[in-house]
Amino acid sequence: MQKVLILFFIISIFSCQNEPSNSNTEMPISIIPKPAKVEKGNGYFTLNKETKINSKLGNKAFEFLNLLVKNTSGYELKSGESTENVIEFIGFQDDVASNESYSLDIQESKIEIQAGGPQGVFYAIQTLRQLLPPDFEKSNAGKDSWLIPCVKIEDSPRFSYRGMHLDVGRHYFSVDFIKKYIDLLALFKMNRFHWHLTEDQGWRIEIKQYPKLAEISAFRKESVVGHNNDKPRKMDGKRYGGFYTQEEVKEVVKYAQDRFVTVIPEIELPGHSQAVLAAYPELACTEGPFEVATAWGVMEDVFCPKEETFEFLENVLTEVMELFPSKYIHIGGDECPKKRWEESAFCQDLIKKEGLKDEHELQSWFIQRIEKFLNSKGRKIIGWDEILEGGLAPDATVMSWRGVQGGIEAAKQKHDVIMTPTSFCYLDYYQSRNPNEPLAIGGYLPLEKVYSYDPIPEELTEEEAKHILGVQGNVWTEYIKTPEQCEYMAFPRGIAIAENGWTNFDQKDYDDFASRLANQLPRLEALEVNFAKHIFDVNYKITAAEGGGVALALSTRSKDCQVVFSDELDKNPVTLNLLETNPVIIKEPTRVRASTLCENLSTNNILELFLNVNKASGKSIDWTTPPHKNYNLGGKMALVNSISASDTRFSDGEWLAWNGEDFEATIDLGELTDISMFKTRFYNANGPWVYLPKKVEVFVSEDGKDFKLVGEFADFDGVEASVKAVEIELKENARFVKVKAHRYGIIPEGRPGGGNEAWLFVDEMMIF
Ligand code: ACM
Repeated sequence: MQKVLILFFIISIFSCQNEPSNSNTEMPISIIPKPAKVEKGNGYFTLNKETKINSKLGNKAFEFLNLLVKNTSGYELKSGESTENVIEFIGFQDDVASNESYSLDIQESKIEIQAGGPQGVFYAIQTLRQLLPPDFEKSNAGKDSWLIPCVKIEDSPRFSYRGMHLDVGRHYFSVDFIKKYIDLLALFKMNRFHWHLTEDQGWRIEIKQYPKLAEISAFRKESVVGHNNDKPRKMDGKRYGGFYTQEEVKEVVKYAQDRFVTVIPEIELPGHSQAVLAAYPELACTEGPFEVATAWGVMEDVFCPKEETFEFLENVLTEVMELFPSKYIHIGGDECPKKRWEESAFCQDLIKKEGLKDEHELQSWFIQRIEKFLNSKGRKIIGWDEILEGGLAPDATVMSWRGVQGGIEAAKQKHDVIMTPTSFCYLDYYQSRNPNEPLAIGGYLPLEKVYSYDPIPEELTEEEAKHILGVQGNVWTEYIKTPEQCEYMAFPRGIAIAENGWTNFDQKDYDDFASRLANQLPRLEALEVNFAKHIFDVNYKITAAEGGGVALALSTRSKDCQVVFSDELDKNPVTLNLLETNPVIIKEPTRVRASTLCENLSTNNILELFLNVNKASGKSIDWTTPPHKNYNLGGKMALVNSISASDTRFSDGEWLAWNGEDFEATIDLGELTDISMFKTRFYNANGPWVYLPKKVEVFVSEDGKDFKLVGEFADFDGVEASVKAVEIELKENARFVKVKAHRYGIIPEGRPGGGNEAWLFVDEMMIF
């Protein structure tokens, strides 16, 4: 029998703000990123129609402030001198480390700003903005006068590079959305927008000399529906695409400049270039024809290092440089399979002629040629960390993404580095363990983990650490099709990245960040950003319950929460005290729904769990070999916590995985128990090298020493589904149950990961 248990958490988040935020009250001081020094004063400055701006220099920052004031209240602040009700720019400081530094002194009669440079003035204005109530961001808020709390701030960034990336190749995002994205970066003092403009699945920038890039490479005939790993893979049959005209690119670059954001374009080479080959097949090593890629993944058709390829790339990059004043041009360099080069007589001759060792050195040769060209035009390259393979180009900056090792190596070689490791900076990963999260690529990267990141690896000396220019959040869009979904994935995790880039590590504190964030999120709501609300989520933890079953502990970040408990979602909920009801002991299969309700902010993150409590639930379990460290988030309890893993996500902690090892675990039921069925599930996704086992065996024992084989299952050939459930009927009375899943072994050549050990992903152990 299944029981339905519905728990509601009602939490009041804004208890310090008893009045609604559009009344004439002050905004709590909750600046993000956290400034170096904040000294709270008394009273407040009133911004109104009479407020003057006294800036001895014309400044983009004040123009920006006037844009905001005009948008919300319909007037503009006038320039002029005054002794009161004035925002005054005192001048540039010459004793500060960075032109991004500023100081802001808000008194009742005036606001004084000093800064290291124009960018610092702009950041002073962003801080001022965050001290204004959220309604200040709304068009025609219906208010003329605004209160700003008195405070003295001195501030300066930790890193010079604080970036966000956006992949517009997998999905196209409108110019209006790109501008909104840039606005949000500026609000949190980020200064780089890495525009990932080209991909296998779509080329997105008009190049006048090569019109077929816009006509052909910018469109694919269809896209994947669901996850790329789904078996069978489903396609939508709908043409998809788009590109930015050069006029639109100029508009974006100018818009970003006005907000002190540098746009860094990325033109992928030599890999991720299949869309180009669809239009210009002569740039490949084989004949083609090629099509713009429709599925996700890493494609084998890449640029061939021929003279005509270099001529093409140089012409393309020349147009790109005319559009983007950025010192850096990102040339990709990641995930370039070498198969076509290995099979190409031309490439093999070139390797010999240039005295190169192998295809990796050929890639390095390719990139060095491009670097030389860009250097000759006064630009510098950034490349993903694969550009270390085969030798770094002499002046290249490395973007470390496959972990931090690439960054460490590059810094030790005295190259500049931008840190974007997947484990802290990939904002396309899932951000909660809630099974109702919208489909994402995989992974698990909650806000708190993003926030915990220190971009300077411990392995570096102080001198080497100077090469770490900063940090960036990456937003890959295979599974991000709309602006709303992009906002949901990028924020607030991107805001944590902003603080990682700005604030000294020893000044950071997650609880403090979460509390400031809670105060700033209504601002994002006013800006109509569809940010994720996981800081208000119900979190769960499952442990073994004494006397059988499991104990479900629910928690939220709010200290003063109440639980409302009901047997149906909308019917007469009963308020209980969270501390008294927690944890809930569950002894039979039960559905749980829980949610938080917050004042001032609509949240609807309902946690739904099905706890399929069985005889193994919460029992002691031991394994012969632990899982791989990357897939051991849930630990042993994940195998007996009564929660089945997701069909689409394999790193939320419910799937555990082994590589190069068989799975073997023994469950101690505590006493002799009648057993009629064993059930488990395995993941099956050959793209990322995950294979079903060859065979599963179940053994039982009364004493934990002498085991007998009582059941097996080996019918795994030809399974097409992403998840294979295994059920083995038994008729035993035993205390110990041992399960062994024999791994697939080495992946055959010609398949993804051919020649490597397959991964084995194992779900819940269930005994009935
Ligand atoms: C990357 O994620 N392929 C840089």
